[in-house]
Amino acid sequence: MAAGTARSSARSGLSSRTSRSSPGFHASWYAIARSEEVAPGQVLGRDFLEGRAIVYRGESGRASVMSAYCRHLGADLGVGKVIGEDVRCAFHHWQYGPDGKCTKIPAADKIPRAARVFKFPTAEKWGLIWAFNGEQPLFEVPEFAGYQEAELEYRTIEAFDLPVEPWVPFTNSMDFQHLRVLHGLKIDFDPKQIQVGDYRIQYDVRFEDPNLGVFDQCIRVTGTNTIALAGKLNGTSVCSMATGTPTPDGRTVGWMVTATPRSEAAPEQRDRQLQVGEAFFKRLIEEDTPVLSTAHFHEGVLIEADRALAMFFQYVKRFPRSRPAVRFD
Ligand code: FES
Ligand SMILES: [Fe+2]
Repeated sequence: MAAGTARSSARSGLSSRTSRSSPGFHASWYAIARSEEVAPGQVLGRDFLEGRAIVYRGESGRASVMSAYCRHLGADLGVGKVIGEDVRCAFHHWQYGPDGKCTKIPAADKIPRAARVFKFPTAEKWGLIWAFNGEQPLFEVPEFAGYQEAELEYRTIEAFDLPVEPWVPFTNSMDFQHLRVLHGLKIDFDPKQIQVGDYRIQYDVRFEDPNLGVFDQCIRVTGTNTIALAGKLNGTSVCSMATGTPTPDGRTVGWMVTATPRSEAAPEQRDRQLQVGEAFFKRLIEEDTPVLSTAHFHEGVLIEADRALAMFFQYVKRFPRSRPAVRFD
């Protein structure tokens, strides 16, 4: 988004827009690529947060996310080359290790201390490579309530691209009015049982989709940009996760993970469960997209039926923000 159209959130509550003076994005885990997009020995450049980052895999297979611009003259390391566990800049062959420090300068014996790029805390889970927007992670990579990664069969796809900050689509998780009227879900729910922590929100809910049947789900929001539903649809297990990542043009790109326990059903049945879970979440995204693509989203006049949503807005306002890589751009 152009800085000239930015609206400050300081006076009238939350706005979906960021400004030049903004203190960065929420200190959270952001997916940057699907795992299978980055083979061992490969590097990718991505627009990420307020700037640009690279994600690369050393020959050993370990993934690292770092700020993209070489500290020498600013070449984008995304067009460099992986050498062993390092990435080498294409311009003058300065080489950086997975901790971001320069390890080699072909034209010099001594490496300046400032010759380092920012290394984001990096993790890999659910078929995604994640980077934490901060010096140190404040919490774990998002999970489905009650499941370890190894217990689940899952698939991961690109799912959305919206002109808003990442927390905006995730207001959906606490916006019960829209779940009823925009998505047509039948929900009887008391917001009092929502547990709001510093970095996570969780609640159990039963709702009915007129076409699919009854969902009994544990809903977990991790950070402000990931929602994971874990539980049953008509008695069979199905889990869905959506996560969003900001880009410097003011957009949020999103991924979706659909999962089901390996132990529970035959492979064909698991496949069907994954298809149903994926189709359900895709429908929600399709119904939200025209609204979220055009809304001038802000915290406006709220009513009693927005009680849970108001809790989400408070959580978002309290959530720490960070911009650890900005001086490396
Ligand atoms: S710009 Fe990267 S080595 Fe010179
Ligand atoms: Fe929605």
